[in-house]
Amino acid sequence: MCLKDKIEKSKLPKHVAIIMDGNGRWAKIRGNKRIFGHKNGVKAVRDVVKGAGELGIKYLTLYAFSTENWNRPKIEVNALMSLFITAVKNETKNLIENNVKLSAIGELNTLPSNVQLNLNEIISETKNNSGLNLILAISYSSKQEITEMVRKIAEQVKSNTIKTENISPELISENMQTAGIPNPELLIRTGGEYRISNFLLWQISYSELYFTETLWPDFNKKLFFEAIYNYQQRERRFGKITEQLDNDAEEKS
Ligand code: FPP
Repeated sequence: MCLKDKIEKSKLPKHVAIIMDGNGRWAKIRGNKRIFGHKNGVKAVRDVVKGAGELGIKYLTLYAFSTENWNRPKIEVNALMSLFITAVKNETKNLIENNVKLSAIGELNTLPSNVQLNLNEIISETKNNSGLNLILAISYSSKQEITEMVRKIAEQVKSNTIKTENISPELISENMQTAGIPNPELLIRTGGEYRISNFLLWQISYSELYFTETLWPDFNKKLFFEAIYNYQQRERRFGKITEQLDNDAEEKS
């Protein structure tokens, strides 16, 4: 039986988030420039998006560019921006054919106008698709997202739209950029680093974490399936004990 068939369709995570790391090292090992790694990273993105669609996963969030990434050498930042444009343009047909709906989170207004333009175009062209929701985190910082949420809620308190006692975890979630999107049950990080790097801090409070040494350009749908299979072997207790989970399951059946 192949790995994909071992995955239980009834226990799929609704939302998987990925920190795609290791492009630069992948290129360096091959004596190439960092952008060569990023270009090959696009191939891995394509394969994983395909795999997520095949499984029937509803949401896939990819960390494509962090706010901190603006501090990289200008030549790399510019090359990444051009890559986003070509990737978005080249993939449009593919995404439409595969019923993928694209959206983006992050400080999108800080992106060069041609990146914003191309991104908005594909977002609009795929808005009626009903398959996989592919969310690109670009110029994204979780602390920035949380700061914006606090500002929004403070404005609502100031204008008497809400009272401070009505501030709840639900209200906070509704005021994040990820409003309406379920929290990721699984967070994958490639590239052998064991950190979160300012990604979805509020949303991953109960996510299962999966770290792999594989550098992002070597990641593919088979390795993605492996991560999903690994996730399905875990027991998610949400602070409860095993016996309570057994009882919950019995009550449900
Ligand atoms: C991290 O590797 C990767 C990035 C900062 C860029 C990710 C971009 C892509 C995979 C390409 C395009 C994506 C889309 C969605 C069109 P790194 O450069 O930090 O690698 P290193 O840790 O080896 O230096």
